[in-house]
Amino acid sequence: LYSVGFKFFYDFIPSFMTRADFNSILVAKKAAATAAVDFIQDGMLVGLGTGSTVFYFIEALGQRCRAGLNITAVATSQQSFHQAQSCGISLKDSETVTSLVDLMVDGADEIDPNKNMIKGGGGALFREKLLAEASRRLIIIVDETKLVNPLGMSPLPVEVARFLYHRTLQRLEDQGYQGKLRLGRNQTPFVTDNGNYIIDIHYNRPIQHPADEHMHLKSITGVVETGLFFNIVERVIIGYQDGYTRES
Ligand code: 5RP
Repeated sequence: LYSVGFKFFYDFIPSFMTRADFNSILVAKKAAATAAVDFIQDGMLVGLGTGSTVFYFIEALGQRCRAGLNITAVATSQQSFHQAQSCGISLKDSETVTSLVDLMVDGADEIDPNKNMIKGGGGALFREKLLAEASRRLIIIVDETKLVNPLGMSPLPVEVARFLYHRTLQRLEDQGYQGKLRLGRNQTPFVTDNGNYIIDIHYNRPIQHPADEHMHLKSITGVVETGLFFNIVERVIIGYQDGYTRES
């Protein structure tokens, strides 16, 4: 599992970053993820987000399950589902979930001091938002590089229907957005677990009012969901490159 995970991570080292810098960020991600496992208690229904930080969370949660912790989990992506399954975590099909999830743990691409976030770097934003809204509590785990004020440096992922997506892209552009269809590894469009596409919007300006921005984008037919999350986070666990964590 470790080798699969690290191979996956190293595929995503940004060109401006050395492997040493990247390793330090992995230390920070792992610190935040490990700290989050302390919030999981016997009997809980746990929501699993998606991404490289959540990878460490699932790994640590699996260790606790193998040591006797009794929980059930719901995953927001095929990736998290398969990892959890291979770690021995008991999983529930989302279609059989009728109660609220006790606690969800997820990552973020950017988070501001008011706990507004950009999410969707891994393409799972729609299920992440659905599950977060179906959870009593949401804990976000991030490395220190994700802290921003205000949002807007990272592209904003927007999930769109494949049907007439060129038209949706055009409508976004007509309204002044710079959108780019996300491509997968073989340069074909990236397809989400819901069978949709992702358009990454490059703001090149601060997003001062995330809720207004979200509402505006969602009013465009063809937009399924945006990666702007607000008023939903209970706690943030920040991991630092020296292995320490801080909560807010
Ligand atoms: C996936 C997400 C992730 O939580 C976000 O991209 C952060 O990922 P990572 O922990 O790999 O930095 O929203 O859709």
